[in-house]
Amino acid sequence: MEPYRVKSVEEIPFLTAEERKDAILKADFNPYKMMASTVTIDLLTDSGCSAMSTKQWSAMMLGDESYAGSASFERYQSAVQDITGYKYVLPTHQGRACEKVLFNALVTEGSVIVNNNHYDTTKTNIALNKGIALDIAMVTDDTVDFPGNMDIDKLKEVLAEKGEQIPLVMITATNNKMRGQPVSMANIKAASSVCKAHGVPFILDGCRFAENSWFIKERENGYGDMTPREIAKEMFSYADGCMISAKKDANSNIGGVLAMNSEDLYERCVPYVIATEGHTTYGGLSGRDLEAVAVGLYEVLDESYLRYRRANLKFFEEELIRQGVPGVFPAGGHAIFLNANKLCPKIPADEFPGLTFAGLLYMESGVRCCDLGRLAFGPDAPDLIRLAVPRRVYTTEHLKYVARMIAQVTEKNKDRKSGLIMTKSPPHLKHLTASFKMK
Ligand code: F0G
Repeated sequence: MEPYRVKSVEEIPFLTAEERKDAILKADFNPYKMMASTVTIDLLTDSGCSAMSTKQWSAMMLGDESYAGSASFERYQSAVQDITGYKYVLPTHQGRACEKVLFNALVTEGSVIVNNNHYDTTKTNIALNKGIALDIAMVTDDTVDFPGNMDIDKLKEVLAEKGEQIPLVMITATNNKMRGQPVSMANIKAASSVCKAHGVPFILDGCRFAENSWFIKERENGYGDMTPREIAKEMFSYADGCMISAKKDANSNIGGVLAMNSEDLYERCVPYVIATEGHTTYGGLSGRDLEAVAVGLYEVLDESYLRYRRANLKFFEEELIRQGVPGVFPAGGHAIFLNANKLCPKIPADEFPGLTFAGLLYMESGVRCCDLGRLAFGPDAPDLIRLAVPRRVYTTEHLKYVARMIAQVTEKNKDRKSGLIMTKSPPHLKHLTASFKMK
């Protein structure tokens, strides 16, 4: 059961079918263009929409808003150092700001950045610096213990071939593109030693580092008796630094962490933080935001919280299976992914079956989710729909409702033959910005 009780509640909107139809038409069938006031259950993302705790809210009242060297920064820095073990800490306003700073400092034209899988803003920030993002995740299915792993042989090959062009190697844990699936400690350790042998910095994208730690505890030999905090610390110890979006595994509404061991790398990042985020002791955040992150980083590693988080997602997965919904199971840490081509098997791939299903689901139920298939990740990606679960926000009754609605919409549309047409196609990040209409 939930290791917390409810102290303050927020009403959720209920619209009529007609109002929902109107809302999705106004948003050009793009869930990212919808107004939240028209959404009943919001599973668009798990980012920045977590419920904060009473401890986080009360810490915020201690926010020191001094321009430089605030007491809030000291608390934030000390939490990051304690949890990650890294010496140098730079706050940023969110994960993609860490990417921008680090890549401005390290990436030049023709640089190749290797990762198990790059998140879409990571890839875009590399492209904006004229670098190339190379994904080398293991090719596997979701039934293995760690489907998020990097292909270490491929890493060795790429470093041997293109070593001089590679300013850093990354691992994203959990692997968002790989459906939030975890990366094993052995894989992180192996990548680390290959990078060390080539003298290439190794950086962890630890947006969901706590969820990854829990999977290691549950599934990897030798970690069952360790605390999530000890496991996280070991994970970080194999890397030279990390980027964390505090909007995910720090249960905060905003914030980022860029931390590293190298003084030289820190010095190279500092001008970009100052020029684009803010002074090195606030990095685009107010003192109160730094406080919320400092508390959240500890809370997210709490064993009873992580046990519940896993159980909450597992409950949702089992509910969908019970309703006969075709998904990618076993699911990863922060979201459930469904196969669009099984939900709407007759909609042609070029008519966006995932996005079509997301639109139909919204119209039927007020549930918002997103398409994370070929529109986001390119023509070779499978057509998947993501139902991301915000932390500490929705109860099992909410998730039961979503599962029931998905089953209902699937049944109603199993013979549907047409989907959506793209009416506006911007060059970058189409899944966030493009417009569509029903065919
Ligand atoms: N890295 C990963 C693995 C992410 O999932 C995200 C964001 C970022 C970096 C960027 O962090 O949003 O704080 O700037 N993912 C969210 C999502 C937005 O919906 O999956 P940010």
